[in-house]
Amino acid sequence: MATKILVIHGPNLASLGEREVAVYGKFTLDEINKTLENLAKKEGIQLEIVQLDSEGAIVEKIGKARKEFQAIVINPGAYTHYSVAIRDAVASVSIPVIEVHLSNIYAREEFRHKSVIAPVAAGQISGFGINSYLLGLKAAVDLLGKK
Ligand code: DQA
Repeated sequence: MATKILVIHGPNLASLGEREVAVYGKFTLDEINKTLENLAKKEGIQLEIVQLDSEGAIVEKIGKARKEFQAIVINPGAYTHYSVAIRDAVASVSIPVIEVHLSNIYAREEFRHKSVIAPVAAGQISGFGINSYLLGLKAAVDLLGKK
């Protein structure tokens, strides 16, 4: 069975490339996804990539992921900082979840310094732009290789 990893882009990430370019960089979501697909091909794994704005849809997707995927890479966007529902969903799946952020959330406004997801994630990568996703995917592949 081929290794399948789920990538979830959270709210407002569909407008990357236009949205606060100085903070998030010039890459569009499509460009990020193509770069992820290229890495997946090199690693010999399969990806499903979704962008979901609503908290409930993210909770539902995580809840169902266990059956189909071996790991999740997620950028929870603003939900990072307060969604106990997404945290609980992450805590209840048995597969590793890697949290990624384009910006360095610890170098920004104070309300972004806290992630309610990080304590239940396998790890967090923050501040490397598009590379945060690539590093997150590599971390997921490495974690699975060690199993
Ligand atoms: C973000 C950081 C969050 O604070 C913000 O709400 C986002 C994007 C990032 O990728 O840097 O939407 O998750």
